[in-house]
Amino acid sequence: MKLLLENIKELVQVEDQPVPFRAGKEMAKVNTIKDAFLIIRDEVIEEFGPMEELKDKYIDDDLLIEIDCTNRLVYPSFCDSHTHLVYAAPREKEYVDRIKGLSYEEIARKGGGILNSAKLLHETSEDELYESAMDRVWEIVKMGTGAVEIKSGYGLNTEDELKMLRVIRRIKQTAPICVRANFLGAHAIPLEYKSNPAEYVDIIINEMIPQVAAEELADFIDVFCDQGFFSVEDTERILMAGMKYGLRPKIHANELGLTGGIQAGVKYNALSVDHLEFVGDEEIAALKDSETMPTVLPGAAFFLNMKLSPVREMIEAGLPVALASDFNPGSSPSGNMSLISAMGCINFKMLPEEVINATTLNTAYAMGISESYGSIARDKIANLFITGEIPGIEYLPYAYGSNLVETVIINGEIQNF
Ligand code: NIG
Ligand code: FE
Repeated sequence: MKLLLENIKELVQVEDQPVPFRAGKEMAKVNTIKDAFLIIRDEVIEEFGPMEELKDKYIDDDLLIEIDCTNRLVYPSFCDSHTHLVYAAPREKEYVDRIKGLSYEEIARKGGGILNSAKLLHETSEDELYESAMDRVWEIVKMGTGAVEIKSGYGLNTEDELKMLRVIRRIKQTAPICVRANFLGAHAIPLEYKSNPAEYVDIIINEMIPQVAAEELADFIDVFCDQGFFSVEDTERILMAGMKYGLRPKIHANELGLTGGIQAGVKYNALSVDHLEFVGDEEIAALKDSETMPTVLPGAAFFLNMKLSPVREMIEAGLPVALASDFNPGSSPSGNMSLISAMGCINFKMLPEEVINATTLNTAYAMGISESYGSIARDKIANLFITGEIPGIEYLPYAYGSNLVETVIINGEIQNF
């Protein structure tokens, strides 16, 4: 089956020579082709270029479906490298508590927050979790996401963590988009271990990780390494244990303080360190020349009214930056990557081009999939979206309230919602 997209006003994020990610000044570079065509064969991108190079042989092919993209832009799908989209219920009551003045940490200390989600997850069946999570997956697919990482971490005991990871495996098997699973048993310390967190860390290491590995339920291992959650020492123990089973770290770090989480992530060659509200010169120096993608989560910063990560400083220091949604019920109840792009521009002073790299190629790298996703390149998977009629690439993060994703193509197939 072949698909021809023709008369594309601008084909965005095109690569003749694919790179794994873009960093520093390179982040402001996005190659585009104006008045372009793109050909998809089965699930991959076969060819693209300016309309005048479209060869007759493609037009004669009778298995060719043509889509006219006049006045429309074509983008590679967003890659969302940080979500917690499997959960039992929203937490809008805590939202109101915060409006009234309680902090995220105060709510967590009272047994709300992540522990509240764990209690609700315990009471919810695997089937129900799967159904509600798939609704969220379809919601983000419609909004242009073509690859997603999903974390466990609302189980917080062996049985419930495995339950969550089995739900994620089912999503992997049935969702049309690429899914990566991240084991986050170390998301919060359950109340019964508050006075002795090391005991809970032992359970993660001795019970959870071996079973997660035996059932091949995760691609990555995560720890919420931060003030009031897991210490650097706990984090290092957990990462080492996970790495023995082939789980690459990808961790939460420096959301609540200068805790050493970034350095711990780099030390264990994490694929990404995420949040990064607290970043100073030492953290930047640690990230420099590492293989770890600094990942910022603008939705959580917006929703919790947090101090903003110094994204400009990181880019000016030559680092790459990725932007993900953090879709979860407590700190970012949205997986809308166009909105995340707008926040990147508005709150973090990123250029539209930087935001494109940060939400496609760099997030693909942060999931270990940038060889196949994250840009328009020959032989990459044909996950892309066609916009409505818009003037140019600045418009998508500018018109932050509009849904500009008109047509979604996943694995070379047009999605009918
Ligand atoms: O990435 N920071 C830790 N974990 C999530 C929040 C999860 C929750 O509040 O339920 C985050 O923001
Ligand atoms: Fe998170």
